[in-house]
Amino acid sequence: MIKISPSILSADFVNLERSIACIEETADLLHIDVMDGHFVPNLTIGLPVVEAINNRFDLPLDVHLMIERPERYIAQFIEAGADLITIHYETGTHLNRSVAEIRERGAKAFVALNPHTPVILLKDIVEYLDGVLIMSVNPGFGGQTFIPNSIGRIEELSEMKKLYNPDMEISIDGGVNKAIIRQLYDAGITMAVAGSAVFNSEDPAEQIRLLKGICDE
Ligand code: DX5
Ligand code: ZN
Repeated sequence: MIKISPSILSADFVNLERSIACIEETADLLHIDVMDGHFVPNLTIGLPVVEAINNRFDLPLDVHLMIERPERYIAQFIEAGADLITIHYETGTHLNRSVAEIRERGAKAFVALNPHTPVILLKDIVEYLDGVLIMSVNPGFGGQTFIPNSIGRIEELSEMKKLYNPDMEISIDGGVNKAIIRQLYDAGITMAVAGSAVFNSEDPAEQIRLLKGICDE
């Protein structure tokens, strides 16, 4: 069954505990967007928030690092409680080394691709990954519109997965909602991040059930 990782970027930050508690039962992971104002034009949350969430909740923490030189923070985010770390291809001069470090420290290693970065560039790293995150919006903000060619990109990655790493996860981040998720699932995703679709709905827990149900039909 597809895994859903709700992005807290669209949650109510004043009532973060309540927002997370509400999706605790139906979510598979919790997606936390870390932004540095350099790699992406926005600033969000960092280590103390990850640590606080980790102390209060049992959900696996899926930390998406949209920061330059992410290797500086791998150890600290894992210590703070990250179970899965995603770093961007575009920020990784020594991607293989960073991926190895994430795994050696006991977390899952994902690499994210911006919408313009060709999928084929992952060919020589894909066998060492736990997953790939296809960005279906330009990273930086929640609530943006899904970029349609992301579907073809998932299909291309699914072919690569068959050849080099059949157990790998394929995840998608940006503009995911109930209208598009089935197409993404058919193209090969095993996981999906959803921010505004989940947290801006009347019943976030039910929205997650709905997204899963659409893929399960
Ligand atoms: C965007 C972030 C996403 C964002 C997704 O840069 O990486 O995780 O929260 O939000 P939605 O699902 O609203 O597009
Ligand atoms: Zn994200």
